[in-house]
Amino acid sequence: MRILHVASEIFPLVKTGGLADVVGSLPPALAKRGLDVRVLLPGLPGVLNGIVGLKPVMQIGPVFGAAVVTLSLGKLPDSGLHAYVIEAPFLYQREGNPYVGPDGHDWSDNHRRFGLLGWVAAHLASGELDPVWVPGVVHAHDWHAGLAPAYITQNPGLKTPTVFTVHNLAFRGMFPMECHHELGLPMRKLTPHGLEFHGKISFMKAGLVYSSRITTVSPSYAREICTPEFGCGLDGVMRDRGSDLSGILNGVDYAVWNPASARIASPYSVDDVAGKKICKRALQLEFGLSTEARGPLFAVVSRLTSQKGMDLLLASLPELLREGAQLIVLGTGDGDLEAGFRYAASVNPENVAVHIGYDESMSHRFMAGADILLVPSRFEPCGLTQLYALRYGTLPLVRRVGGLADTVVDVNDDSLAADKATGFIFDDAARHALGARIRDACAFYGNQDAWLKVQKRAMLQDFSWDDSAMHYEELYRAL
Ligand code: ADP
Ligand code: GLC
Repeated sequence: MRILHVASEIFPLVKTGGLADVVGSLPPALAKRGLDVRVLLPGLPGVLNGIVGLKPVMQIGPVFGAAVVTLSLGKLPDSGLHAYVIEAPFLYQREGNPYVGPDGHDWSDNHRRFGLLGWVAAHLASGELDPVWVPGVVHAHDWHAGLAPAYITQNPGLKTPTVFTVHNLAFRGMFPMECHHELGLPMRKLTPHGLEFHGKISFMKAGLVYSSRITTVSPSYAREICTPEFGCGLDGVMRDRGSDLSGILNGVDYAVWNPASARIASPYSVDDVAGKKICKRALQLEFGLSTEARGPLFAVVSRLTSQKGMDLLLASLPELLREGAQLIVLGTGDGDLEAGFRYAASVNPENVAVHIGYDESMSHRFMAGADILLVPSRFEPCGLTQLYALRYGTLPLVRRVGGLADTVVDVNDDSLAADKATGFIFDDAARHALGARIRDACAFYGNQDAWLKVQKRAMLQDFSWDDSAMHYEELYRAL
């Protein structure tokens, strides 16, 4: 069975968030099950530098504003899986964030940059671009690849089934209606029953309407997005397609996220967690934090946005500090939140530290050194950091929403008695609710025997891809 994964990011070549982790680890997990999997990526600088042995397969153009586009084939550096790369320097040869220019605004030609991605996917599906390998299923990820199902259904002779995975419905890939001229979309698709969304074109909606099946990255999020509260205006579409919608939980690549092999101060494992204390001290020293605090060290590794509840955390900080705890933050995002955390660090230098930036290896040091990882999200399609934290014996403190609710078991009398607890959960997206749970976690930290037990259980949780890859395979076979 030949499966083509279409996406804009892939770890370790181009990453702005969890999408890259998933696209980097799901295809190899499927290949391990015997599927013939390839990925299709835009030729961003990180991709061109990282793919091994790129060779041209076909030249096309002019298309989407680029005079010449070369479709090349190479191999992914770690898994050795085949990767098609769209070489279109005019559209993709830009350093930095894949979606946003240096001025902080989306690139003005994003409709063409990602329209081309979907268009090439459809033409690979039809066999026109590489007759040697024609996919049986096209699996498109998030709005960037949302036009792939639309272009496939536009070709009456083409019956390739498509799976569209929603990683985050809040990013709907919206462009002015006039753009349709440059995308070659027919008028009959530009209606509210098609990919029109409030007078604009939505690439996300295109994926939702024209794919054969829709998946989201956790079962809870699949239910939530059918409601107005979480549906971002697309809940009606979700309900219409309810019988084709399912949630498959993301997995973790434990070869990457492993405290026994990560580059941290002192590697450790569930059988011997002593190294974790050394990692904590090293992290405190690295950031000039006191090593004498009586409370736990809380960490954040996240985009600093309201989705992630970072404003709630800033508001709860006084409570956290009153408990004698510490906070360390790694992230980038909204300017006012960045400034808020910077200010908090400047007035509490012994107990609050912030690194504004994106740093993959530092994220491992945070996971290893912290006692508790905070993920107080307003919504969370899956969330990966809580899964990484579990494996690093860092108890997640999360809001009961989306994938967070599906992966963390709250510490309470029942779960402790049943030997199930792995972290802390709160319900309301409100400062006092988060503050109260922070206080509870600090109190529980005081009981080191109980803490160690929960910590070990957390480390033994298995969120590897095996199960989830099997569910995707079942879906492909059903199609
Ligand atoms: P999202 O994709 O919504 O941002 P996820 O939890 O699914 O959330 O994935 C976030 C990914 O990005 C994780 O791999 C996390 O470790 C990583 N990450 C987020 N912010 C940073 C940062 N500032 N530095 C390094 N890694 C980060
Ligand atoms: C999105 C979501 C996140 C999810 C990730 C990978 O970025 O916000 O919850 O884990 O995609 O699927």
